[in-house]
Amino acid sequence: MVYTRKNQRDLTAAERRSFVAAVLELKRRGEYDEFVRTHIDFYTADGGGRLRVAHMAPSFLPWHRKFLLEFERALRRIDATVTVPYWDWTRDNTPAASLWSEDFMGGNGRRSDLQVTTGPFAYAAGRWTVKYAMTEVSYLTRDFGRPRDPITLPTAAQLDEVLRERAYDTAPWNSTSPSGLRNRLEGWAPGSGNDRFRIHNRVHRWVGGLMLGGGSVNDPVFWLHHSFVDLVWSRWQQRNPGAAYLPAEPLPLGDAQYRKVVARHEPMAPWGVTPAEMSDHGQIYRYV
Ligand code: CU
Ligand code: CU
Repeated sequence: MVYTRKNQRDLTAAERRSFVAAVLELKRRGEYDEFVRTHIDFYTADGGGRLRVAHMAPSFLPWHRKFLLEFERALRRIDATVTVPYWDWTRDNTPAASLWSEDFMGGNGRRSDLQVTTGPFAYAAGRWTVKYAMTEVSYLTRDFGRPRDPITLPTAAQLDEVLRERAYDTAPWNSTSPSGLRNRLEGWAPGSGNDRFRIHNRVHRWVGGLMLGGGSVNDPVFWLHHSFVDLVWSRWQQRNPGAAYLPAEPLPLGDAQYRKVVARHEPMAPWGVTPAEMSDHGQIYRYV
């Protein structure tokens, strides 16, 4: 049965409750922190000599599609009515959005230590202690809009521009690829400070706190953000039916990215699925 992923703003109060309850139950069982750990393990930047599968690489999109599916499968084992909603940050683009309400994601971090003190994931509520992170915090943190160095969420016009890209990805297949859907959507751009962060990266930066870096999965909004990133890829695929994942073949010996990026039919760790196998989600879920 094909299920649907909905815009989080359209969820009923009961649907919000079910989603939150399933996430908390996954956390209680210790399974949630395994997702956090997987993401930290695969947080590899370019520049090094290692294979990059999750970030700064063509497989950024299929890797996260599979990651979300695994998470959603775990939630649905707890409650079969739950799916991962998406956060359209071009529309719900302020701290006043219902996304951040007391019965859903909770709000911003407090000024003194960025600790989130409202909603189901507040430390004091007792059900959301951070186990794995790249920093020493045990509580969820957020810093909406980075007041010290203000940043805004991506606009609909900026996202439309990304959707006009015609190729999936292009050489040099990393954070410096000058065009292609993948790097434009992942959001690495030349420059420094906030300028370097566009679209997907900019959203991580706008939420701030734990949403920065490899431990970003500690913030449940990670899933709603990546659900929308996946939706954008899906829309782009519909508009460009002939434009498959690139590179199609493994890069040759002598290429700077030889053995550092995954080609269309190569397996992606830790699951072993290929980008080609992840390209069509239509038999599993749809976006509404
Ligand atoms: Cu990631
Ligand atoms: Cu991300």
